[in-house]
Amino acid sequence: MKVVAAENFADPSFSADLIGWQKIHGRHVLPWQNTRDAYLIWLSEIMLQQTQVSAVLGYYARFLERFPTLRDLASAPVEDVMAQWSGLGYYTRARNLHKCAQRVVAEYDGVFPSDPVLLAELPGIGRSTAAAISAFSSGTRAAIMDGNVKRVFARVFGIDTYPGERKTEEMMWRRAEALLPEQGIESYTQGLMDMGATLCTRSSPSCERCPMQPRCVAFSTNRTKDLPVRKPKKVSPEKHAVMLAIIDGGQVLLEQRPPSGIWGGLLSLPELDGHLLAEDDEVEAVDDDALMLAVGKFGEMESHERLSTVTHVFTHYKLHITPYRVTLARRQAMAAESGHVWYDAAKIPDAPLPAPIKKLLLELVGDSKAAQQRMF
Ligand code: ADE
Repeated sequence: MKVVAAENFADPSFSADLIGWQKIHGRHVLPWQNTRDAYLIWLSEIMLQQTQVSAVLGYYARFLERFPTLRDLASAPVEDVMAQWSGLGYYTRARNLHKCAQRVVAEYDGVFPSDPVLLAELPGIGRSTAAAISAFSSGTRAAIMDGNVKRVFARVFGIDTYPGERKTEEMMWRRAEALLPEQGIESYTQGLMDMGATLCTRSSPSCERCPMQPRCVAFSTNRTKDLPVRKPKKVSPEKHAVMLAIIDGGQVLLEQRPPSGIWGGLLSLPELDGHLLAEDDEVEAVDDDALMLAVGKFGEMESHERLSTVTHVFTHYKLHITPYRVTLARRQAMAAESGHVWYDAAKIPDAPLPAPIKKLLLELVGDSKAAQQRMF
């Protein structure tokens, strides 16, 4: 039977140290502090989502001049709300703010509920914002979890998995719940925000002034730069294509690509069926029959040579191109509508070809010119 160690994230000294620090070194005179008015607190928390205090201050004051009460906001036209928000960004916040004001008036007679679960059902209020509003406006013990808190937790507890990943985020929430103080939720919540914004910054944390330094795993293991871990990069998929460079009498056989998709509408080299941008299938050797069949549409194959694979990096994947240089004993007549053309090698520099194909062809045609010169 698999034995899973019980989690024990509780540690009363964590909140005690944080509250002690916040009382002396934290922020105490922000315009939304020193009040229990849920309207003033809610408005600040919405404005402070993804936005720094310095950017919010002016908007906050002007907004409250125009909409001094929740009812003023709820009864205003949404255009007026948008106008006041203009320049603050993330405009869904403003639309939700207006909807939320109307719902609180309609459903709660203009008084915000104190229960964070009810708050989180309102537009624009997620679990963390609900916790902050209820902690600041009614002293409710509820955990916040935003980008700053994730960074503090990742460092203090040495969490080395990506905090945007579901399991890690859920674990961080459980920690946050377990660490809540019995008393002083307001100073504790503000302390977490203050530490994240002023000390435990992303690029230059002030560890020498941090109350968490003695317990901080990132500090003691010299990993503040590495925690929290960055979003893992997606490994780009790799695709393989076998292409035919059929060169005959100073001309190269080119194929018109479909109008959409990669290299849409450009000319390119014909690709071998079955290897046409096949995903994750390493091209070993193409068997002679397959090659003969593919070339057969264009003429009778005289000789072929596998050339070195070249790799082209697109934004979303890597394309490995294995070209086969083919010479013909005899050309096959082709219908004009086949989408294939014999193209003068001398015109390759100006041809509408994808860059890696043009480069490849210029190398090859250079070669074939040299070969021709040797022959004649
Ligand atoms: N960021 C989010 N909420 C905040 C608050 N109440 N004070 C300072 N920064 C914050």
